Amino acid sequence: MTVIDLGVPSLGPADPVPADGPLIDTFGRIATDLRVSLTDRCNLRCTYCMPADGLDWLAGEQLLTPDELTRLLTVAVTKLGITSVRFTGGEPLVAKNLEDIVAATAALRPRPEITLTTNGIGLAKRAAKLKQAGLDRINVSLDTVDAARFSRITRRDRLPDVLAGLQAAKAAGLDPVKVNAVLDPVTGLQDAVELLRFCVDNGYQLRIIEQMPLDADHQWQRDRAIGADDVLSALRRHFELTPDSAPRGSAPAELWRVDGNRGVVGIIASVSHAFCSACDRTRLTADGQVRNCLFARQETDLRHLMRTGAGDDALEAAWRAAMWAKAAGHGINDPGFVQPDRPMSAIGG
Ligand code: 5AD
Ligand code: SF4
Repeated sequence: MTVIDLGVPSLGPADPVPADGPLIDTFGRIATDLRVSLTDRCNLRCTYCMPADGLDWLAGEQLLTPDELTRLLTVAVTKLGITSVRFTGGEPLVAKNLEDIVAATAALRPRPEITLTTNGIGLAKRAAKLKQAGLDRINVSLDTVDAARFSRITRRDRLPDVLAGLQAAKAAGLDPVKVNAVLDPVTGLQDAVELLRFCVDNGYQLRIIEQMPLDADHQWQRDRAIGADDVLSALRRHFELTPDSAPRGSAPAELWRVDGNRGVVGIIASVSHAFCSACDRTRLTADGQVRNCLFARQETDLRHLMRTGAGDDALEAAWRAAMWAKAAGHGINDPGFVQPDRPMSAIGG
C-alpha cells in the first residue's frame, strides 16, 4: 500500500512562486533538509547501485568548485531556511576536501546540523578530523557483516575497512553512529538478523532501507526486493521488538526498541509505505543541479546560473521555483512509473 494522501493542493505550479519565507511546495511541504552529493564516484561497486565497471563519471569542470558549493550552501542556509545539511555521494570521502567543506558549513549562521552518509572506507583515518571540523552525525552504509557476502554485494573485499571506520566514528564521539543497510534479495533476511546483533553489541543504530529503483542498470524488480514487513517478521524471530514511542516527525524510519532497551532499529519502507507526504528534503547534485525529489525527472541548473553571472537573488529564486514544482510522491507504485535517468550514485541518498 502506498500512503500518499496530500489532498488537492490549494495552489498549483502555475501560481506564483513565493519570493521569501520557507522553501515550500504547492502541497505545503517545507524543505529544511538539504542533501548534497559531493561526487558521483565511489570506491565500491554495490550491485544494486553501479555496474562492475563503474559509470561515466562527471568531468572535473562539471563539478561545483569549493567556492561555488560554499556559495550555494550559504544561499540555502541564510535565505531558504535550510537547517540540516547531509553530505553524500557517490562516496563523499572521495572528496579530499570534505573536512574543509564541513568546516565552511559549520561556519554558516544559523549553524545547520551537519551529517554524512558514507560507505566508511577511509573513515578510520578521518572520523576525528571530521568531528573536529563540525560533523554532528554519521550514517555508514553496510549491508552485511559477512565478509564473503560483503565482497559479493560490493564487488570489493573491504569489510575490515568499514568496520574500522565505524569504530573510529564512535570513538570520535559522532553520536549516534547509524548503519544503513539495503538488503540483498537472496541473503538479506539473514544479513538483517546478523547486522542487528552486530549493531546492538557495538552500540550502533541500524536502519534497514527498502531497495528503490535507482540502480544504474535499471535491474530493480519489485518482487525481488525485500519488503519492510518481511524484515520485521524475520527480526522478530530473534529479537523482541517494541514500537519506539519517540514521535516520527518527517523522519522516514519506523523505530523499534530491541530486547527492552538494548538498542534501536529503524525500518525505512520507502517503497511499500512511502513517506512522501512528510518529505522535507531538497537535493543538490555534485554538478550543481537542484532536484526536488530522488525520483524527479527535471533538474534546475544552478551551476549554469552561477557561471553566467547570476546574483544570489536569482539563485534563490531558481531554487524556490524548483521546489515549488515538487510532485506529490515518487510514483514507484504507479503503473506509469519511469525511473529517473540519474542513478542513486549521481543523486545522493
Ligand atoms: N535503494 C535504496 N537505498 C539505496 N542506496 C543506494 N542505492 C539504493 C537503492 N537503490 C543507499 C546506500 C546508502 C545510501 C546512500 O543509499 O546503501 O546507504
Ligand atoms: Fe558506492 Fe554507495 Fe553505490 Fe555502494 S551504494 S557503489 S557504496 S555509491
